[in-house]
Amino acid sequence: MYSPLLFFIVLYGIFLTSSYAGWSNLNSTPRKTIQYEDNHVITFKEDGIWNYSTMLIMEDLGLLVLGAREAVYALGMNDISVAKSKVLWKVTEEKQKECTSKGKHPDIDCRNYVQLLHQMNDSVMYVCGTNAFSPTCDYITYSDGQLKLEGKQEDGRGKCPFDPFQRSSSVMVDQDLYSATSLNFLGSEPVLLRTSPVTLRTVFKSSWLNEPRFVYMDVVPESEDSPEGDDDKVYMFFSENAVEYDFYNKLVVSRVARVCKGDMGGLRTLQRKWTSFLKARLDCSVPEPSLPYVIQDVFHVRHKKWRKSVFYAIFTSQSSSTDQSSAVCAFNATDISEVFSRGKFKTEVSVEMSDVKWVTYNGELPVPRPGACINNAARTMGIERSLDLPDKTLQFIRDRPLMDDAVRPITGKPLLLKRGPLLTRLVVDLVTASDGQSYPVMFAGTENGYVQKAVNYDGEMHVIEEIKLLQNTEPIDVLRLHQNQLYAGSASGIVQMPVSNCSRYSSCLDCVLARDPYCAWDATAQRCSRSPEDAKGNLIQSLKEGDATRCPTTATVEPKIHSLVLGNNIRLLCRVDSNLAQVNWNFAGKPLPYSNRKYTIYSDGILISNASAADAGRYTCTSVERAKGRQYTQTLAVYDLREQLPVDVTDKIKTTLGILPESYTTSSGLHKTEEPPSYATNQSSENKWIVIQVALAVISVMMACLLIWNLYMGHISPFMCCGRQPIKSPRNLPEREYMHTGNDVVDSKQQMVRLCVTTNSNVEATSFHRNTVNGDTSTDIHIFKYITDESEI
Ligand SMILES: *[C@@H]1O[C@H](CO)[C@@H](O)[C@H](O)[C@H]1NC(C)=O
Ligand SMILES: *[C@@H]1O[C@H](CO)[C@@H](O)[C@H](O)[C@H]1NC(C)=O
Ligand SMILES: *[C@@H]1O[C@H](CO)[C@@H](O)[C@H](O)[C@H]1NC(C)=O
Ligand SMILES: *[C@@H]1O[C@H](CO)[C@@H](O)[C@H](O)[C@H]1NC(C)=O
Ligand SMILES: *[C@@H]1O[C@H](CO)[C@@H](O)[C@H](O)[C@H]1NC(C)=O
Repeated sequence: MYSPLLFFIVLYGIFLTSSYAGWSNLNSTPRKTIQYEDNHVITFKEDGIWNYSTMLIMEDLGLLVLGAREAVYALGMNDISVAKSKVLWKVTEEKQKECTSKGKHPDIDCRNYVQLLHQMNDSVMYVCGTNAFSPTCDYITYSDGQLKLEGKQEDGRGKCPFDPFQRSSSVMVDQDLYSATSLNFLGSEPVLLRTSPVTLRTVFKSSWLNEPRFVYMDVVPESEDSPEGDDDKVYMFFSENAVEYDFYNKLVVSRVARVCKGDMGGLRTLQRKWTSFLKARLDCSVPEPSLPYVIQDVFHVRHKKWRKSVFYAIFTSQSSSTDQSSAVCAFNATDISEVFSRGKFKTEVSVEMSDVKWVTYNGELPVPRPGACINNAARTMGIERSLDLPDKTLQFIRDRPLMDDAVRPITGKPLLLKRGPLLTRLVVDLVTASDGQSYPVMFAGTENGYVQKAVNYDGEMHVIEEIKLLQNTEPIDVLRLHQNQLYAGSASGIVQMPVSNCSRYSSCLDCVLARDPYCAWDATAQRCSRSPEDAKGNLIQSLKEGDATRCPTTATVEPKIHSLVLGNNIRLLCRVDSNLAQVNWNFAGKPLPYSNRKYTIYSDGILISNASAADAGRYTCTSVERAKGRQYTQTLAVYDLREQLPVDVTDKIKTTLGILPESYTTSSGLHKTEEPPSYATNQSSENKWIVIQVALAVISVMMACLLIWNLYMGHISPFMCCGRQPIKSPRNLPEREYMHTGNDVVDSKQQMVRLCVTTNSNVEATSFHRNTVNGDTSTDIHIFKYITDESEI
């Protein structure tokens, strides 16, 4: 037993990069966050069908073939919303009973999950499903717009897992299926299998595969232009329990393994087994000391010259801590190939009594080199097939499939580090920008239904945006990219989204600072457009530098006039385009003292609570965004806060004139977010003053008439004071009393407001009726108390 401390010290030595320089570039804050509602995706799902986890693109037919639980669909690539055709592939009752009797859940485990879909030729597909823990494969044809299941019912063991929750991987190479999965019901016998032309499999030994989790497979055409006469290879990415580190606990490491396409197995040793199976550790070290990250998904960016191909891979933390994080590393196909073709091997040695250790093998290697494909050198020795390989070479590889060197990522470090919800799947698009260069743009799905769109500029990772792609908070299980469309599948459905939406970038600054290779600012058309296809005029794009100095200066922002009502909470809106920008508020030319409890900062504005006269003045909202050392300041909003007359009076006057007050809220309540009032409000507040003046004049005339009439009728004596005259009780008023003012009818049922009007030394009491014409009786307004009027904010 080893102490945990020793364990971590050893770990530190093994998995840590010595250089910490440059980690600060791995800032993974997305510049924009796009909510589901703001992203118009096309969706497909069908009631009662779940687990849309397998996708196949049939380019010639323009089809996206979708495998789900007990169903396969043919969808149009351009619009996935309607299925062109569908086949159901259900488990038989007998199979389900058999599965249930083995202790599996009838509705969860004992169903048919389509896990494998490959194209055989123009119209035929190969499909496998778990089929109630009894994996089965079949052929599907697509003709006359219809999918048809052939019903051939081939044995699917070794091609498709028994357990729908177990990861597996496969690839079809020239109609030969390579698959990596588990061979048995318990899921305990892992295998890398090729079914034709000769069935080959891995040796069932922990030094070959040790509780693996298969992630990805693909072929690399290494025979092309090979001076050594090398063979094509199939690469497999997976994680497994390490054999080479004797820790007190299980330690999961990430691996890449490969086999040669022309392998036919050995004659006596390694009969019907791979003679070319080699594996190496994949390294994707993060800056903090931690257990090695575990590989989750891979995307192969193919290049015409295979040596320039790159594998992008997602890794996630394996420590049980709650602080989860993910990393993306890229591996050069040449580097991987070199580790296998030139690297040293590891070998097992016995230490002490029963313990074994894996150390570097420094002895002489048999010829031909163990694990090498049949090449020109072997052919000159008379070895034409793997069946001709000498036993020494085969015995070596049977016992030592593990390479000593790990494959290091390009640039030696992750391209991206992300904390929080884990990354699940990845696709990469090579985008040709307006500078003629191509940039790899990564789309990484997360476990909570987002996609992170990121690009690496000379080692600096830039997350352009994060988009909520799925309506539910569920993991993205499959991602595909085809002709500028992104397809994502999950347990509840699939969605389709264009790889970019340049019209989201509203200004030149926003468009250029986005550093989105798909988009450039078209100075002629004054919009952000797809580059370079859609744009005609003068394009502004600066991907590596994020240099927006060529953007025209924006017009000055017109101040918006806002009324300040004493005691109210006032919300000033200011929406910023970018998560990377810092928002600054200025009041009367000075930075707003945020420490003051008076101000509450929100992502889209500020709240000034309990406004006082001292709060009147000019508020300016500016954003400062930094890109590559340059700083871009932009004024987003300017507000002039002006103290307003007591609302009660103006409101009453509005009432008298038949102008409905807008809505009210209580003075302590937060106001719901509203667009800042525009220039129109500015005008209307001026109109208000005219209304008030006219109203005051009208009231004065009415008062005078009333007074004269009362005096004339002798209802009151000229020398009576309001203090002594009993005020008419509301009870004495008729149920409904109407007061005519012009053409308007004012209902007095609810509110009575008493007002003393002084005329010279005399005080006259009379009553006014507050209107409740709109039937809103919820407002409780006391005389001389200010109304909080949301419309004024
Ligand atoms: C692109 O963005 C614009 C502006 O936000 C929006 O109106 C449009 O619907 C978006 N298009 C898609 C396909 O999401
Ligand atoms: C497609 O492949 C299937 C199965 O291998 C074969 O039976 C069929 O003849 C092929 N069709 C064409 C048009 O090549
Ligand atoms: C991968 O390595 C090869 C050979 O060293 C090199 O030519 C190629 O540019 C590399 N690719 C990347 C993306 O680094
Ligand atoms: C299938 O979908 C269901 C329902 O969302 C989910 O709970 C389950 O985990 C999925 N099964 C697999 C194997 O992904
Ligand atoms: C609002 O401010 C006034 C003075 O400016 C103060 O008397 C009053 O208590 C404050 N009200 C609240 C709710 O803070």
